[in-house]
Amino acid sequence: MFVCICHALNDKKVKSALDQGATTPASVFRHHQCQVQCGKCVPMMRSMASEHRAAMAQQAAISAVAPLPCHAAATPEPANAEAVPAYAIAAE
Ligand code: FES
Repeated sequence: MFVCICHALNDKKVKSALDQGATTPASVFRHHQCQVQCGKCVPMMRSMASEHRAAMAQQAAISAVAPLPCHAAATPEPANAEAVPAYAIAAE
């Protein structure tokens, strides 16, 4: 889908610029070494940039959550460490 007709910038080119650090329509134009002409694409680019920032913030929030240490699952809880399994009692 074309976002900017004047410079033949499609959504992939805009997303590529956003992925490489562009944050505004002006920086998308700079990334592609052009300047705004008619300006009809600016609201769409601004919306795409806003959505991109929101997606990046969400990814950062997800990656900020620390994973559980690997050994935590293998360590028995003290209450279970001395528990006698039911089948062991039945076998006595
Ligand atoms: S459509 Fe982008 S500057 Fe005209």
